[in-house]
Amino acid sequence: MKSGWRLQTQTGCTNTKAQVSQILKYCNSRCLAVVPQGGNTGLVGGSVPVFDEVIVNMSLMNNIISFDKVSGILVCEGGCILENLITFLDNQGFIMPLDLGAKGSCQIGGNVSTNAGGLRLVRYGSLHGNVLGLEVVLADGNVIDMLGTLRKDNTGYDLKHLFIGSEGSLGIVSKKLLMEAKRKLGEILSAFEFLDSKSLDLVLNHLDGVRNPLPPTLHKFYILIETTGSDEPYDRQKLEGFLLHAMEAGLISDGALAQDINQASSFWRIREGIPEALMKAGAVYKYDLSLPVEKMYDLVEEMRTRLSDSANVVGYGHLGDGNLHLNISTAQYDDGILTQIEPFVYEWTSKHRGSISAEHGLGLMKANEIFYSKPTATVSLMASIKKMLDPKGILNPYKVLPHSLSS
Ligand code: FAD
Ligand code: MLT
Ligand code: ZN
Repeated sequence: MKSGWRLQTQTGCTNTKAQVSQILKYCNSRCLAVVPQGGNTGLVGGSVPVFDEVIVNMSLMNNIISFDKVSGILVCEGGCILENLITFLDNQGFIMPLDLGAKGSCQIGGNVSTNAGGLRLVRYGSLHGNVLGLEVVLADGNVIDMLGTLRKDNTGYDLKHLFIGSEGSLGIVSKKLLMEAKRKLGEILSAFEFLDSKSLDLVLNHLDGVRNPLPPTLHKFYILIETTGSDEPYDRQKLEGFLLHAMEAGLISDGALAQDINQASSFWRIREGIPEALMKAGAVYKYDLSLPVEKMYDLVEEMRTRLSDSANVVGYGHLGDGNLHLNISTAQYDDGILTQIEPFVYEWTSKHRGSISAEHGLGLMKANEIFYSKPTATVSLMASIKKMLDPKGILNPYKVLPHSLSS
């Protein structure tokens, strides 16, 4: 992590929102740049200072303020760790509509600011649908309260959406935030993840204690399906029926059904362990793309042909969302390999009308590539909005907007 000033608000303090506001007011008046930071698990460098920015770390603003069992509305501070919210809601008989591999460290404010997709989007949709309200501190220290709990409210612009996915470039998600937790309902799909055999090999070779639940025949693809239901025998019957049908139809050649929660966790460990295994394997070039599902794997194969033996090209991701994680693993970073990958990967994605960042955001690393996914006029409008809300450009400079427009 690069060095920078790190400011934390006091534990248990009731006026932390005011403190964030004061910090921003001060920084704005002195043109000091600020990086909002959550769990620092982002994958595109958005939470890392580039030069000497002040880091405003939110980890001590971690209180759950209220939970209403009738409406399923949770109000909490922006620094709450996702896993703590998941456990809290689980104990109440509710489901957090967001889950991701980094849950043990990432914070809900960071999740909202990156519009994190994760493992449950296929069932519960994106945070644009699940976040009912936000409280945000703007660059000049003004606090904007957008915490309405109404489900229907067509009185003008719904400004909270501007901040969901804005990667800390427009404001800091502060004290309160409303999430719509979901009741545990019947047998409905809650995750539909895929990995190729190379991803599985990486996990088996680099992570301790991970075992393939299937016989060691080589399959090209693996799908991890999760259902969440309130009637377990019925749920199981449904899933078994689905597996049988899919096998008879030749759609799948093998399958294993988790018999208990421990087995289910060990299946998830394989899928969630892929990023960790990639880190252990060496250098990794990461791409997070939205593509038409039927085209998704063509890119992985084309990339393999381009790079031949110089790299291990793997594909995994959130199949139900059309989100491919294309990862290219090599012994060490090499400019020659990078020029083989980029701009090819972005041009290919753009040609297929995909997105060059499905869920990880643009941060520092992808900011200049925005034009592959957004027309120039849209990017200019984004720059104008940024200018209006942060005229001195102190909030998360060099991120999200291309360098040519982020003066
Ligand atoms: P940080 O990394 O600290 O910050 C991310 C961005 O948000 C930065 O631009 C920062 O300035 C801004 N920010 C942080 N907190 C605030 C705040 N309170 N107010 C305003 N801006 C803020 N992402 C997915 O979408 N789906 C996945 O499935 C997924 N899986 C992952 C698995 C692993 C193992 C890892 C390491 C990462 C994964 N990620 C995934 C990426 C990352 O975890 C998410 O983007 C997460 O939402 C970031 O949260 P954070 O609190 O760590 O934010
Ligand atoms: C995942 O789905 O595992 C994540 O988005 C993290 C990653 O791709 O590295
Ligand atoms: Zn992902």
